[in-house]
Amino acid sequence: MNKTRTQWVCQNCGRTAPRQMGRCPGCGEWGTMIEVVERPAAQETRPSVIVAGEPQRLTEIESEEERRMPLPLEEFSRVLGGGVVPGSLILVGGDPGIGKSTLLLQVAALMTETTGRPVLYVSGEESARQIKMRADRLAIRSHNLFVVTETNLEAILSHAERLNPSVMIVDSIQTVYLEELTSVAGSISQVRQAAARLQWWAKNSGTAVFLVGHVTKEGAIAGPKVLEHIVDTVLYLEGDVFHSYRLLRSVKNRFGATSEVGVFEMRERGMAEVPNPSEVFLAERVVNAPGSAIAVTMEGTRPLLVEVQALASHTSFGHPRRTANGVDLNRLLLITAVLSRRVGLRLFDQDVFANVIGGLEVREPAADLAIALAIASSVRDRPVAADLAVIGEVGLSGEVRAVSQPIPRLKEAARLGFRRCLLPRPVRRGTEPLPEGIEVIPVRSVAEALEKALI
Ligand code: TYD
Ligand code: MG
Repeated sequence: MNKTRTQWVCQNCGRTAPRQMGRCPGCGEWGTMIEVVERPAAQETRPSVIVAGEPQRLTEIESEEERRMPLPLEEFSRVLGGGVVPGSLILVGGDPGIGKSTLLLQVAALMTETTGRPVLYVSGEESARQIKMRADRLAIRSHNLFVVTETNLEAILSHAERLNPSVMIVDSIQTVYLEELTSVAGSISQVRQAAARLQWWAKNSGTAVFLVGHVTKEGAIAGPKVLEHIVDTVLYLEGDVFHSYRLLRSVKNRFGATSEVGVFEMRERGMAEVPNPSEVFLAERVVNAPGSAIAVTMEGTRPLLVEVQALASHTSFGHPRRTANGVDLNRLLLITAVLSRRVGLRLFDQDVFANVIGGLEVREPAADLAIALAIASSVRDRPVAADLAVIGEVGLSGEVRAVSQPIPRLKEAARLGFRRCLLPRPVRRGTEPLPEGIEVIPVRSVAEALEKALI
């Protein structure tokens, strides 16, 4: 018999307690006590990174790069940095119902084909029949795809040992439990220890493991956030359930660039890749309508053109409202303040709504100028020129500030038929020449941009 000892440790101050407590008796913080199980050395839970063997010369260590398993789903593969690294642990987080299970079932089927080896899909949320129904809907018939409904980690690992899959998917990490922990499945200690064990197992077996993690309202507690430092790669599937587009974003990647984005569309028969997202997001644009401007943002290494809309309408109650959809509210407040103080736009009695089309979320300050133009366009009831794209960050003195990577942005705008583009002055050229077919209009201030953009 192995004797194990369980105690509760505060993540904040390190105070220990013999039993579960909602509030730390040491520092008084709520929800910081996590369960820690001490086991005899022989059976100890290994640390998440493999450290075994003699020190090796760095130059003699084989590079992981060539060993990636290709994934014939370009949008997914790029986000991972060009394929699945064997033995890596990848967390796929997202709101319930956004399409995580659908996407990963598709990935599982594709991986059986490219590797010629089994893939194991472990579900703790749905029965094998339910998964079969989804697979039918997606027209998946892979012979090498194995499905099991299981939530006990030991059992999951023993299935995996036997099958030796190239890829294992655990849907979801919140349903997995370790017997030796007394806390319920989905609690912070269960989720963390299960992930650490899976990391250790993945590194030893060479199987790439995908973990599905639901982001819940309590996400900060037992959701994907607590796993980010344990896993190799963190991907978030984002989108708006009322729109069909989904963005797969990498926020951490030990094997590639972060902030890469893949774009998918949720269709009747699963997730389809969207190789030309700018075209899709601009498809429904009404040309020459006031209150709309085209921003050129960068999603990772890829430029993305999006339509920003704004509407200013007279405030019916004392205090004017600012409502942001897909735009950071603080950014919107800053831009409206700059427009009133530096440009003299009358906004004190106007409610302002800003919206990004397609359910997208724009985080980059390079979209500031487009937001400012959309608002001004709505207030003055004059449209932004239809052939004009807009790039620039807005500063507090009403200046337009430089943005990174202007050339790829200009190229994408030119490719989509925009003939002119506002760009912060001085236009940094670097060594690369400006692309053909698009006129660059340098601007220094928001006021100058308004003069040049509104018709
Ligand atoms: P699901 O993958 O179950 O989401 P998650 O695992 O993130 O909770 O997807 C749920 C939604 O996707 C559901 O509302 C139905 C829809 N859906 C489609 O639109 N097309 C499809 O082919 C499939 C399988 C699901
Ligand atoms: Mg699911």
